[in-house]
Amino acid sequence: MKQTLDSLQQLKQKNQPIVVLTAYDASFAKLLSEQGVEAILVGDSLGMVIQGHDSTVPVSMDQMVYHTQCVAKGNRGSLIIADMPYMSYADTDTSLKNATRLMQAGANMIKIEGGSWLVPSIKALTEKGIPVCAHLGLTPQSVDALSGFKVQGREQQAADRLVEDALAVEAAGSRLIVLECIPQDLAQKITKQLKIPTIGIGAGNQTDGQVLVLHDLLGLDQDFRPKFVRDFFDDNAVHSISDAIKAYIATVKDRSFPNQNQSFN
Ligand code: KIV
Repeated sequence: MKQTLDSLQQLKQKNQPIVVLTAYDASFAKLLSEQGVEAILVGDSLGMVIQGHDSTVPVSMDQMVYHTQCVAKGNRGSLIIADMPYMSYADTDTSLKNATRLMQAGANMIKIEGGSWLVPSIKALTEKGIPVCAHLGLTPQSVDALSGFKVQGREQQAADRLVEDALAVEAAGSRLIVLECIPQDLAQKITKQLKIPTIGIGAGNQTDGQVLVLHDLLGLDQDFRPKFVRDFFDDNAVHSISDAIKAYIATVKDRSFPNQNQSFN
């Protein structure tokens, strides 16, 4: 089945979790889409897991275009979300120019990190027919401003600002929101207030869907084990990459992933 923004919205309406995973190449895109992953994120996390950088900041537009093209070639019906890299959406004109490149590379939607300051760009993109996914909470491109990869929204003021930001980006036209590394109760509160689906990572199991970095799900880097990640290979019943992806899909769908230990309070 070909996934669309409407089909993801219907899953929220039916309270059925939406499964999202990252992929950066045609082989994995084919495997994930054939397994039934509803959306594939061509994440700028590729800067870390493919290129070996310690943040996503060095990733360029040309690299995102290349990986989006690769994923589009292998995809068999998942919705493709492509990340706009660092500073590629710093103002409205730059956003339009760069989002156009990702859509022409095969994306169905682009993702940008930030809150209310994104409103003019989100309006301009949606008016021109480019669907936008906003990314709130821990926004990795701001790792230096945030003084590291840390849980966001624990203080009341910061939590209130996240709720306001979520409502503002929805009102501007966003069709999806990624919530990264925020307390599970806050993620649930935002999810209930929004009409559009929320996709969590480190945000508890009450969001409308989950996303993980594929390499983390496969436990490729044994030195990188944040609390919200589960190594799906670390299970006697899992013998192949396909098994691990099936287990991820099943546990997202029945909301057993993430569990309490994999969520923040
Ligand atoms: O780049 C990425 O993979 C992401 C996810 C962590 C949500 O933005």
